[in-house]
Amino acid sequence: MSRLDFDDFAVQYGKRRALVDFSDVVTSGEWLGVIGPNGAGKSSLLRALAGLTASSGQVRLDGAPLAAMSARERASKVAYVAQLPIVPDDMSVFDFVLLGRWPYVSRFGTERSADRRAVTDVLERLRLESFQDRMLGELSGGERQRVVLARALAQEPSVLLLDEPTSALDIGHQQQALELVTELRCHRELTVIAAMHDLTLASIYADRLVMLDEGEVVASGAARDVLTAERLGDVFHVCVTVDVDPDDGAVVVVPRRGFPVADS
Ligand SMILES: Nc1ncnc2c1ncn2[C@@H]1O[C@H](COP(=O)(O)OP(=O)(O)O)[C@@H](O)[C@H]1O
Ligand SMILES: [Mg+2]
Repeated sequence: MSRLDFDDFAVQYGKRRALVDFSDVVTSGEWLGVIGPNGAGKSSLLRALAGLTASSGQVRLDGAPLAAMSARERASKVAYVAQLPIVPDDMSVFDFVLLGRWPYVSRFGTERSADRRAVTDVLERLRLESFQDRMLGELSGGERQRVVLARALAQEPSVLLLDEPTSALDIGHQQQALELVTELRCHRELTVIAAMHDLTLASIYADRLVMLDEGEVVASGAARDVLTAERLGDVFHVCVTVDVDPDDGAVVVVPRRGFPVADS
């Protein structure tokens, strides 16, 4: 179980309101895709949810306010993968992924064999076993992104927060990473909230989309209802056509040459 109830959840930096009174219910096992132009508030939502940015309002996880949890308890339930993760160059892949186990390692003790097993398991799932002794500084951007995802999964969270998880990946690794999250989600009833900039991928993988603009929700629902050419023109100032696959309902957003729809 891992249902999230948002109640006027808000993020403000000084006078700048980055997320305005966000209220929503994300059901257990749901994948919510958060979309919106640069600066819309997607990262602020995820960081605040991870406890890394101050927020107001409330979020409850299965009824329990997240704000009342200790950092350790929260980390055992919610894992976060940053948009541009900063990693130490001189640490091995294995040791880095092992850091994901910190909520389970006793305060004075070292990690148990169960923790090392959990790390090995995740590395296998992400096909990273052969990388385990490599130093992070020697990896490509895409490999590093998979390692950061591995650390989040080693946390064995019930909620996974992903901030543009595939931005550094080529099309093949994008698909592999998103398929893996899908597989794990079905396997363990993981709830996923992912900010995604590729609207077509968002529509394929997410169960539901929330579109933010200047911190406010402008649309929420199934991809085919949220991703209309008119709304994309208004919010992203882009000229697109939107095709809906008659077979599986997948929504494909195709950029077109042309003048962006004027600001109204
Ligand atoms: N640490 C910060 N301090 C001040 N303003 C910030 C900070 N982080 C983000 N912002 C501002 O908050 C707004 C939302 O940013 P962000 O959540 O990063 O948007 P997105 O991830 O959708 O691009 C933007 O106007 C951005 O400039
Ligand atoms: Mg962002």
